[in-house]
Amino acid sequence: MSPMADFHAPKGVPDYYPPTSTQFFAVREALQNAARRAGYQPIELPVFEDTRLFARGVGESTDVVSKEMYTFADKGDRSVTLRPEGTAGVMRAVIEHGLDRGQLPVKLYYAGPFFRYEQPQAGRYRQLQQVGIEAIGVDDPALDAEVIAVADEGFRAVGLTGFRLDLTSLGDAQCRPAYRERLQSFLLGLDLDDDTVARARLNPLRVLDDKRPHIRAMVADAPLMMDHLCDDCATHFAAVRASLDALGVAYELAPRLVRGLDYYTRTTFEFVHPGLGAQSGIGGGGRYDGLMAQLGGQALSGIGFGIGVDRTVLAAAAEHVQVAPTARCEVYGIPLGAGEQGALVTVAGELRRAGVRVDLAYGGRKLKSAMKAADAAGARWVLLLGDRELAVGEVTVRDMESGDQESVPLAAVAGVLVQRLRRA
Ligand code: HAM
Repeated sequence: MSPMADFHAPKGVPDYYPPTSTQFFAVREALQNAARRAGYQPIELPVFEDTRLFARGVGESTDVVSKEMYTFADKGDRSVTLRPEGTAGVMRAVIEHGLDRGQLPVKLYYAGPFFRYEQPQAGRYRQLQQVGIEAIGVDDPALDAEVIAVADEGFRAVGLTGFRLDLTSLGDAQCRPAYRERLQSFLLGLDLDDDTVARARLNPLRVLDDKRPHIRAMVADAPLMMDHLCDDCATHFAAVRASLDALGVAYELAPRLVRGLDYYTRTTFEFVHPGLGAQSGIGGGGRYDGLMAQLGGQALSGIGFGIGVDRTVLAAAAEHVQVAPTARCEVYGIPLGAGEQGALVTVAGELRRAGVRVDLAYGGRKLKSAMKAADAAGARWVLLLGDRELAVGEVTVRDMESGDQESVPLAAVAGVLVQRLRRA
């Protein structure tokens, strides 16, 4: 950061700039490609919505809604909120545009920024980037497994291997209320501090996720949802596990897994990367079978995930995985005099139309500094054009790996380089 700058990005908000921005975009693209390969279609939604959508959809008792939302009144005095997550907005759009009246499941993916007023630290930002998918309207356990497999394949396409998948079932409206009461009475029988008692009253499941060692010890024998699933939920969960096994997706059962959003039912999961320290959750999701009805739509089921692109980029760095090519261009053209620029501009145009990444030395740079720029750009081939060569219709092609040079007819050079790059 330059001390001369008058302005800075808002606290906790990352900029993505070269050279590392290429990693960010390549990771995001790889994650979206995994969704496309499974038949998900893109959806692009507003970054702000009616505040009530998140209050009702995500849950008033969650930290995300009660503490972390960027909420303000617009000039028409409507309360709007920068979206803290994507699922509520997708459900709003699906209901509003009647997408749930067509073929089911509705399979959608999205990518973009989300906003949470959290305490910034490594891997935790106030503007975070996610790639997410949602599959709405079919309650088939094989679909749960597909959603999880898409995330798993996305991470693998990025090149990650050192992550883990935590899996549980949170039950449903049939079995969760009775379990919740059982857990609550267990917790209220313990000698807990006032804050924790308040949490046990509001959302007892969160106490199971408490990281403090003395609380952990006290809740070691707490009843677990997975042991109190109703028959339907137990059957569904067994089928999800069988599908994951069939797909070859490894997981660990995590009966104490608690998510930060209220809408989850049944299958719930998190991808964790131990190389990331405290902010190790690289993606998470699950079923949200009551959400659509809660937002005024049909009583349809849904399942999806959100992957943190920022954290996936950090995980790739932790595993020393290079996701994007480091080279900014493949060919770099250097005119040795003002008269040669036009001919190289023409060649650059031909190459770019053929899909080759080409840059030129502009501003009459001296040969030495232009060669340095070609090197920094990572170019495989450099084109050197002087007046004598131009006069005979040739150009010097320099192989930056071997240092070999040769003369090639100007009219043929684009075709020759395209062939060589295809072979490489
Ligand atoms: P979430 O677990 O709140 O789920 O967020 C998904 C992912 O976003 C996290 O696993 C993490 O990688 C990333 N993330 C969250 N907060 C931050 C932050 N402050 N800084 C950097 N990365 C962050 C959801 O948002 C759900 N909408 C996912 C979902 C879709 N469930 C069903 N469908």
